[in-house]
Amino acid sequence: MATYDTLGATYARTRRPDPRIAARIHAALGDDIADVLDVGAGTGSYEPPETVLAVEPSRVMLDQRPPGAAPGVQAVAERLPLRDDAVDAVMAVLTVHHWSDPAAGIRELRRVARRRVVVLTWDQDVFRERFWLVREYLPEAAAFDDTRAVPVGRLAALLGGARQETVPVPHDCTDGFAAAYWRRPHAYLDPRVRAGISLLAQTGEDVIAPGLARLADDLASGRWHPARRAARARHRRRGLPAVGGRPLIRARPGRRGDRPRRGRCGRRGAGLGRRAGRVARAGAGRGGCRGLGRRGR
Ligand SMILES: C[S@@+](CC[C@H](N)C(=O)[O-])C[C@H]1O[C@@H](n2cnc3c(N)ncnc32)[C@H](O)[C@@H]1O
Repeated sequence: MATYDTLGATYARTRRPDPRIAARIHAALGDDIADVLDVGAGTGSYEPPETVLAVEPSRVMLDQRPPGAAPGVQAVAERLPLRDDAVDAVMAVLTVHHWSDPAAGIRELRRVARRRVVVLTWDQDVFRERFWLVREYLPEAAAFDDTRAVPVGRLAALLGGARQETVPVPHDCTDGFAAAYWRRPHAYLDPRVRAGISLLAQTGEDVIAPGLARLADDLASGRWHPARRAARARHRRRGLPAVGGRPLIRARPGRRGDRPRRGRCGRRGAGLGRRAGRVARAGAGRGGCRGLGRRGR
């Protein structure tokens, strides 16, 4: 059973796409794309009109996709059921931290994308240090995120180089992910909100209960506000904005020979990428790639 078959039951209620974040994702995808694949698509948040297919392992999430959304297929990033160069662009929003093998998943994204790969994630170093909720109340949750976050530098390297930009989390963000309520602390006391935040749901209610009780006390007594002000002052001194944004990573899949390929006989690109890259850089071009079992064009 996929993790989100349990976690995702109420996803569409608290995780509504935020239009400001959507604008940044769509700008990163570019206006020169005809078709987009959404990987780890969930209920379809942030999919542009050009989306032709959504890949999502959880049936519960697929069932919450709205009428008129692109068709969904039950599959995982690590094994995309698409041929090489199938779409102009691939997007993966707030999902890489759930993949069992991020390297294999990113290799697959690059394999099927002709022009662009866009990944939205978070920077765990910034999140752990800067976000008052996990730093001051729920360090156990931060420790859990340490085990699953994919470092931004590693992602960029897996993508073969990428442009990175920071997407601010608006104080009234409509997409209820972990940092969304940074200025609405009472929200974290609501179990319906917590159910839509995998970090809190997976860390476990029993583990986070003492921290949440302290937060409730601090909110009731007014102690929460000074704590927040002090944190903001510290961040200003370090030249950081008050609350972390989400890194948006945009990569070009690169020249054909630089990317992993699935061979004609069904073999995956893993292990072939470096050899193919060498062939392309050496100028052997298409002949060299075809020699590795690629389809022609
Ligand atoms: C936080 S949700 C994000 C959904 C959607 N992209 C959004 O922005 O609302 C993470 C999604 O990643 C999916 N997921 C988990 N493991 C995956 C994998 N190995 N490959 C692709 N998607 C995966 C989950 O089922 C879930 O729907």
